[in-house]
Amino acid sequence: MQTEMTTADRLYRDKDWIQATAGVANAGVALAIVDPDSIGWAKVASLLEDYGFIGFTAAEKDRVFDQIRANLGGDGDLPYWDSFTASATHALSTCEAITGTAGDRYILQSDRAPEAAILQEVTDLNRIVGVSPLPEWYMRGEGPPSLTGWIRAPDGRMIACANGSMRYHPQSRLAGTYYVGTVSVAPSAQGLGLGTLVTALLVRDGLRAFDATSVTAVAQPGNAPSRAMLARCGLRHDPSRATVILNRSGAFHTR
Ligand SMILES: CC(C)(COP(=O)(O)OP(=O)(O)OC[C@H]1O[C@@H](n2cnc3c(N)ncnc32)[C@H](O)[C@@H]1OP(=O)(O)O)[C@@H](O)C(=O)NCCC(=O)NCCS
Repeated sequence: MQTEMTTADRLYRDKDWIQATAGVANAGVALAIVDPDSIGWAKVASLLEDYGFIGFTAAEKDRVFDQIRANLGGDGDLPYWDSFTASATHALSTCEAITGTAGDRYILQSDRAPEAAILQEVTDLNRIVGVSPLPEWYMRGEGPPSLTGWIRAPDGRMIACANGSMRYHPQSRLAGTYYVGTVSVAPSAQGLGLGTLVTALLVRDGLRAFDATSVTAVAQPGNAPSRAMLARCGLRHDPSRATVILNRSGAFHTR
């Protein structure tokens, strides 16, 4: 019996094509559409059919909703995440200051290809807080260059984690932009500054590792802690852009 391919399986199967195409990017759990006009809307429609889960990354808010309805159909409200961005210089100095005052109570680590046991801990923590986990191949850097970071409590428990990736094509409008996401803090440890700290860790280490010129992240309009955390790390909400999601896969919808 043949088993159904998931969106993540397809993103793995097509990773070389995605990596080589400026108008798209590999988001691990969804195909990111960076420039629908350059790919053509007919192709976008077939990609939606194939992958089941696509996101229009940091799209122009005043155009994208109408374009999607006109070219892909559908009505009703489309879910979206707001865009947050910063220059590498500003984000790096802000995040170095945050990590520099963290003290030694917590253990902070990041790795471009963590071992399997750590990936399992990250995946478990993502699931507990309702964040869709990235596939393990993604966190091992078999797609775009990736960095996973985490914080352990003094007793060794992983209490916070996040991932950053250099997913955008060097000839795309997002060239040089480092993406940070899947930030997860154990429920018992939320509200203590650890979301801010793990995001700052990923921004600091990712900007250094990948020599990026800017950093971007997304947050849902109703996710106040996530928005405040990104602002703390020096990222500003860009009200002109948003990432719009089309999910026909029935897959777990991430926060
Ligand atoms: C979002 C999340 C990562 C934030 O981590 P955290 O450790 O709880 O947040 P912090 O303690 O670092 O606080 C960050 C900011 O949010 C504010 N905040 C915390 N809880 C809040 C709440 N319930 N309502 C509003 N603001 C809140 C804090 O005051 C702080 O802002 P400030 O520095 O301006 O005072 C964490 O709550 C979480 O794992 N949530 C579930 C998963 C998720 O939504 N992830 C983000 C999507 S990628």
